[in-house]
Amino acid sequence: MTALFIRNLTVEFPSTKGVFRAVDGLDLDVAPAESVCLVGESGSGKSTAMLAVMGLLPSFARVRADELRFGDIDLRNASPRKRRKALGSAISMIFQDPLSSLNPCFTIGWQISDVLKLNRTVPPEKIRDRVLDLLALVDIPSPEQRFHAYPHQLSGGLCQRVMIAMALAGEPKLLIADEPTTALDVTVQKQILDLLCDLQKTRQMSLTLITHDMGVVAKMAQRVYVMYGGAPVEEGETKDVLECPRHPYTAALLRSMPEAAIGMARLPVIPGMVASGPDLPPGCLFAPRCERAKEPCNGDMPTMEHGTNRGVRCYYPLSKPSRSLEDRT
Ligand SMILES: Nc1ncnc2c1ncn2[C@@H]1O[C@H](COP(=O)(O)OP(=O)(O)O)[C@@H](O)[C@H]1O
Ligand SMILES: [Mg+2]
Repeated sequence: MTALFIRNLTVEFPSTKGVFRAVDGLDLDVAPAESVCLVGESGSGKSTAMLAVMGLLPSFARVRADELRFGDIDLRNASPRKRRKALGSAISMIFQDPLSSLNPCFTIGWQISDVLKLNRTVPPEKIRDRVLDLLALVDIPSPEQRFHAYPHQLSGGLCQRVMIAMALAGEPKLLIADEPTTALDVTVQKQILDLLCDLQKTRQMSLTLITHDMGVVAKMAQRVYVMYGGAPVEEGETKDVLECPRHPYTAALLRSMPEAAIGMARLPVIPGMVASGPDLPPGCLFAPRCERAKEPCNGDMPTMEHGTNRGVRCYYPLSKPSRSLEDRT
């Protein structure tokens, strides 16, 4: 049984310069109570893919998929009303910048109460208690006092905790977190990730976390999808992918982690830019930046080759992790 099941998801944005494909044939599964990371550089289509799941893309975006399901609920072409009716609050999402997601004019207690009122799962006389429980759940100190605080009176870390409390108000089965710690100080980042990790485990919730940081993947994810140019180039169990990356892009991302570069004079960077724009070259989109690229990398797009619990989309993958994948190097 999968919670989230996506096959061949494509999202296009028409523009005056042509049609820009931000997500290009994404296949993704998230099991119940599983934590999955989408990792990749900025512009690789991570947010767009998850906004498509949430039905939050602008109306001019063209979304197509062979399958886009949560449990047995088909999320394709559903109007916002139909989605709300079918899904309730089964999926919720938090974003990078908590301050801009909160309304500056209302207290946090009021804003969380408002979510509970919309969900209609808690009787009105119990709402205040439930808000205090939620604030305690996300480890906000002195919930009684914070109930009356306005967002600007709280630190970035506390605001992100409030956003998590709001996201949990409807008891979601899947939480999507889009770079939830990128806007926060390093020490606070760790606390928020610890909180998400804890909540995912204790509530047996699925978590899909978007990040550009392999360190976050190592800490948080059971499985990982490495995104490049709108689709995964590699997927698998986090341990396998991190210990034995098969796609040159995954290997390059791992080399560019600060932890990997201890003792080096400078941090290695991946030369070039993520391929984007309406006129993409044929073949593998990473080829222009890849030291292993030769024929036919620049001609035909490779397909995802699946082994046991592992997939890689490359003509010349790095050494093989198991016998199930043919090593062509
Ligand atoms: N509303 C939009 N209109 C036009 N292009 C967009 C829109 N949203 C995202 N894009 C483009 O889609 C590509 C993927 O973006 P995004 O999903 O935000 O990447 P990521 O989250 O991996 O950084 C980017 O090149 C971005 O410019
Ligand atoms: Mg993003």
